[in-house]
Amino acid sequence: MEAGVRDYYGKTLKSGADLKTDACCSPSALPRPVREALSNVHDEVVSRYYGCGLTIPNELSGLSVLDLGSGSGRDCYILSQLVGAAGRVTGVDMTDEQLEVAERHRDHHARAFGYGNVDFLKGDISKLEALGLKDSSYDLIVSNCVINLARDKEAVLRQARRVLKEGGEMYFSDVYADRRVPEELKNDPVLYGECLGGALYWNDFLTLAKRAGFADPRLVESRPLALDAGPIRERAGHVVFYSATYRLFKLEGLETACEDYGQAVRYKGTIADDPREFDLDGHHRFEAGRIKTVCGNTALMLEKSRLGRHFDFF
Ligand SMILES: C[S@@+](CC[C@H](N)C(=O)[O-])C[C@H]1O[C@@H](n2cnc3c(N)ncnc32)[C@H](O)[C@@H]1O
Repeated sequence: MEAGVRDYYGKTLKSGADLKTDACCSPSALPRPVREALSNVHDEVVSRYYGCGLTIPNELSGLSVLDLGSGSGRDCYILSQLVGAAGRVTGVDMTDEQLEVAERHRDHHARAFGYGNVDFLKGDISKLEALGLKDSSYDLIVSNCVINLARDKEAVLRQARRVLKEGGEMYFSDVYADRRVPEELKNDPVLYGECLGGALYWNDFLTLAKRAGFADPRLVESRPLALDAGPIRERAGHVVFYSATYRLFKLEGLETACEDYGQAVRYKGTIADDPREFDLDGHHRFEAGRIKTVCGNTALMLEKSRLGRHFDFF
C-alpha cells in the first residue's frame, strides 16, 4: 500500500485539481490569521495542497510543531509564521516528490518571513523513532488528511503521543466513515489514494485513540464529503465519508468517561483573535467573563495545557 500511496502523491497527482473527490481538499473557511499566513505561502506549495480540513488551532506563539505527512509543506509554512521566530516546525513525509517541492521553497519562505524555522524529514510517520524524534519533544502535532493512508494507524497515534510533551496536543484533520469500509474499497488503489479506502469507521478511531493513550478525543468540526455522481460514488455504495478535525491532549489523569467533580472555569477573553469566546471543541464554547461548569477532563485540558493562562479555575 505504501508504494501505491507514494506513486499517487508523487507521480499521479500534479496539483489539487487532479483529485477525483473533495476528500483531500478543504473548502471550509479559514480563520483570519491562517488566511493571512496562507497568502504568504509560495503558489507551487499551495497548488500541491491535498489536505482535508483545519489543522491549525490558536495560541501558537513559540511552540514546537510536528506535521505528520507534511506533503508540499503548505501547513508547515503557515505554522512557521504563526509560531514565530521562537518556535519551530518539523514536517515528515515519505514521498520524494512532495518533499522536493517543500524543500525547494524553504529559503524563499525564510527570506520572506525574516527567519527560518522549518525542517523536513523523510520517513514513515508510524516509525518516528527511526528519524531520531525524541520523547516529549513537541508541543503540538498536526496532520492533514494523512493517517487514513497509514497502514498501522495505532502505531502513528502511539508515536505521536510519545513525542508530544505532557500538556501538548495532537490537532488533526482526517477522513472517517459512518461504517467499516468494505474490503473491496480498501483494496482499490484510487479510492485508497483519494483518502477514502483507508478511512476508519468513527467508532473504531475512538477505540484506537484511547488504546494509544488519548483517553478523551474531542471532535472540533466535521463535514460530510460530497462524492459527485460517477464511478467513485458507485463504488462507495452506502458508505458516507466525513472530514473531521479532532484534538487529542496528552495529559496524565484524563479519564475515558467525563465525570463531574463540581469544577468551573471562566475564560478571560485573552486569546488573540478570540476575545469574545473560545471553542475548545464542537461541544465546549466559553464566553469571555462567564463562569461555566465543566467536567474533570475539560478542566484538565484547559488548566494543564498552553490554554491555562487564559482561564480562571474554580
Ligand atoms: C493527502 S496528502 C496530504 C499532504 C499534506 N498534509 C497536505 O495537506 O497537503 C498525504 C501525504 O501523506 C504522505 N504519507 C502517507 N502515508 C505516510 C506515511 N506512512 N509516512 C509518511 N508520509 C505519509 C504522502 O506522501 C502525502 O504527501
